[in-house]
Amino acid sequence: MSITAIRGFNDILPGQTGLWRQIEQTAWSIFRAYGFGEIRLPIVEKTELFLRSIGETTDIVEKEMYTFPDRHGDMMTLRPEGTAPAVRAFVEHKLYTAPVTKLYYTGPMFRYERPQKGRYRQFYQIGAEVLGDESPRADAEALSMLMKFFATLKVKGASLQINSLGDANCRPAYKEKLYNYLKGKAGELCENCLRRIETNPLRALDCKAADCIEATKEAPSLVDSLCEGCAAHFDRVKYFLRLYGIDPLVNPRMVRGLDYYTRTTFEITADTGLGSQNAVAAGGRYDRLVEELGGPATPCFGFAIGMERLALLLEGEQALAAPLTVFIALGDEAEKKGVELVSAWRGAGIRVVEEFSAGGLKTRMKRADRLGADFAVILGENELNEGVVTVKDMKQARQDTVAWDKVASIIAGAGH
Ligand code: HAM
Repeated sequence: MSITAIRGFNDILPGQTGLWRQIEQTAWSIFRAYGFGEIRLPIVEKTELFLRSIGETTDIVEKEMYTFPDRHGDMMTLRPEGTAPAVRAFVEHKLYTAPVTKLYYTGPMFRYERPQKGRYRQFYQIGAEVLGDESPRADAEALSMLMKFFATLKVKGASLQINSLGDANCRPAYKEKLYNYLKGKAGELCENCLRRIETNPLRALDCKAADCIEATKEAPSLVDSLCEGCAAHFDRVKYFLRLYGIDPLVNPRMVRGLDYYTRTTFEITADTGLGSQNAVAAGGRYDRLVEELGGPATPCFGFAIGMERLALLLEGEQALAAPLTVFIALGDEAEKKGVELVSAWRGAGIRVVEEFSAGGLKTRMKRADRLGADFAVILGENELNEGVVTVKDMKQARQDTVAWDKVASIIAGAGH
């Protein structure tokens, strides 16, 4: 039996991690400029945390969580998302003593979904949460930061859709209205929606089944049923977004797969070529969650970016890792000097791999090529005597004699 990775759980190989790091570093430098601090959260949480936050009638909780008893019999869950853990940490460590807390995290999430390109059972998110700001300006600023992040990475075709899901004032009445409408269409709905009418009727608006899309075409719109406070908040979000130069599309059918949202919700789609897997980031406002998890009333807004989907979009477009240099020393004396030189070059930030094999120069050059070298640096007896090396530019098929102390600057400046 050969051992392979479990389907839906990916290895991220060295050829990909350069891009991943670039994405993470871009996020980090932009988010930091907006005052976010990094939080590192555990991968495992008590199951109850997700039941109470994501909601018991959501797809995630009903069928996608990796839940198991530990040796003591306590129920544990591999986190399917980062917002609930971030709020748990916020409450546990009383981070609410600050007027506003801005948290940022990256890491793997786990959902038992049907794996396909762009959808995995272990996937990575970059998430950000603003805790303690009720202003619509906070929604717009976080969204503008996110759009700036996508623009910096030169993501093509990123488009923002927003909606408002109302709050405890207006959503119950809307739910009732929608419930009655859906009841009248019961014969036309898919089995799943039929079952969900009773527990979570809003989900029917998001169903991808053609019959359900048709049946809900004329359904009452939540945006038209918002109470005064929610409608004013939504208007201000749109106003501030325009102030940031963003023209959002309002999609009143967009309901999210997590129950904690109130008021603003959003999705950013890009042309992934992956059909329904085109959401690269999503999130919204969750003004009640901190209280529901035992903290003081704290209005919040946040989002998460899907790393795999973003990496798929950017593949091949980024200037990747620094050039690779392979160093070949010919003979004992050159090897001795090589130890010192390689250490100095590495200290100057050059990526150097030493080629230790025993073959002749031709064989070792072939190995350098197979290692993917951008440069081969050769130190033989003649070079040793003259204080130089031969630097071979593998991509340009050119070679030069270079003084030892000039090697680092020449390679660093070559920029393949
Ligand atoms: P979400 O919409 O469930 O929101 O996930 C956010 C993003 O994670 C999606 O837009 C997608 O890019 C990526 N994603 C989700 N599931 C998968 C999967 N199975 N495979 C690959 N990528 C996936 C949340 O998780 C919320 N916690 C966002 C949030 C933060 N809301 C407020 N604060």
